Amino acid sequence: MSIQAIKGVKDVLPEDMPAWQHLESTARKLFESYGFSEVRVPIFEYTELFARSIGASTDIVEKEMYTFEDRDGRKITLRPEGTAGVVRAFIEHKMYADSQLVKLFYQGPMFRHERPQKGRYRQFYQIGVEALGGTHPHVDIDILVLLHRLFARLGITGLTLQLNSLGDAECRGAYRDALKAYLKGKLPSLCGDCQRRYETNPLRVLDCKVDADKFGDSPVMLDYLCRGCKDHFTTVEGGLKKLGIPFQVNPRLVRGLDYYTRTTFELVMEHAGAQNTVAAGGRYDGLVQEIGGPAIPGIGFALGVERAVSLMDTAKLKPPRPSLYIAALGAEAVALTMPAVHALRNEGIRVETDYSGASLKSQMKKADKYGAAFTLIVGDQEMQSRTAVLRDMGTKDQVAVSLENIIEELKTRLSER
Ligand code: HAM
Repeated sequence: MSIQAIKGVKDVLPEDMPAWQHLESTARKLFESYGFSEVRVPIFEYTELFARSIGASTDIVEKEMYTFEDRDGRKITLRPEGTAGVVRAFIEHKMYADSQLVKLFYQGPMFRHERPQKGRYRQFYQIGVEALGGTHPHVDIDILVLLHRLFARLGITGLTLQLNSLGDAECRGAYRDALKAYLKGKLPSLCGDCQRRYETNPLRVLDCKVDADKFGDSPVMLDYLCRGCKDHFTTVEGGLKKLGIPFQVNPRLVRGLDYYTRTTFELVMEHAGAQNTVAAGGRYDGLVQEIGGPAIPGIGFALGVERAVSLMDTAKLKPPRPSLYIAALGAEAVALTMPAVHALRNEGIRVETDYSGASLKSQMKKADKYGAAFTLIVGDQEMQSRTAVLRDMGTKDQVAVSLENIIEELKTRLSER
């Protein structure tokens, strides 16, 4: 049997690329206009980086990472998300040195050993942004507006921005106590993970894939915010309203990663199954310090490329077609036209041809299949008269072009179009 791709991993085929490229270039243009610069960080890092940043008791770290020992006996992990690596690079290269808000974007594959289903893969792509060095709620607003604008530019509608605050170190303690008191009575009926996490990290219990629907009446962080977190949240809400960015406060929004503080959010598809979050993010004011850097706050988001592409209207996004098909009929004609093929390609004109010198009928079929704008026909008759026939495949008009300066001739005619 032939070897197949690994379960949960998808090939992105040439016919998928126009949509992917449209998404990537739309994001790049928009991010650059907001002052973000691209960064490319490795797809594997020391396991410890993810354990410390995402949180040792999260599902991602406990159950989903692709971790292996390399030949030097070091524990390595294929990145399950982008933020940890970007923050590691930010610290390692002392990007904080010029005291500006550092704005970075990235794209690339991420790896999580989850149960594969539609919209959930074991290798998937994210495009994300991270802004490091700003505590002001206007930075949060910037990030949320950027997310909103990106999906608007992509023409994707029917999404809801859900917003929550997860507080900070000051107010988390009181909430944690209230949550533990609430969970205590339920404990015997909860799964093993929840019982363990109740002790180590009770907030994680709310994110349990088995028991999540049992906590509809749990206390919520929004009711426990300290003054600073409350003011921050109110300013973010006010700013979004002022800018006409629609959102819904969802006090039960929990994220699957531990690094979040204050503003957290998800962009959710309204009519979709289980995999309904297309983008998500939030503030992570303690993360830089957690992984060994100075006390610098951050905020960002990442979108799932496969999920975003599945929502795009891709009908108008077609792979590029050749401008010219050269139908050389016979070996002599092939030899004669080869220099033109290469010269035109060198000018950036997409040219296809057939090296077999096959019959006119079969070559015209090929030209149609390629969707070429023009076909140049060179057969015995044309060789004798030193002229070729240039056929406009749309209008079916044909003109004779001299073979002597065929390259110049074609360049001019193709550029006139
Ligand atoms: P996340 O919510 O884990 O956040 O992932 C962000 C997005 O990646 C999800 O909303 C979803 O669209 C996509 N995604 C996640 N897992 C899969 C999967 N198995 N298959 C397909 N798509 C998936 C983060 O990763 C954070 N680093 C986001 C962030 C950036 N927070 C601050 N800055």
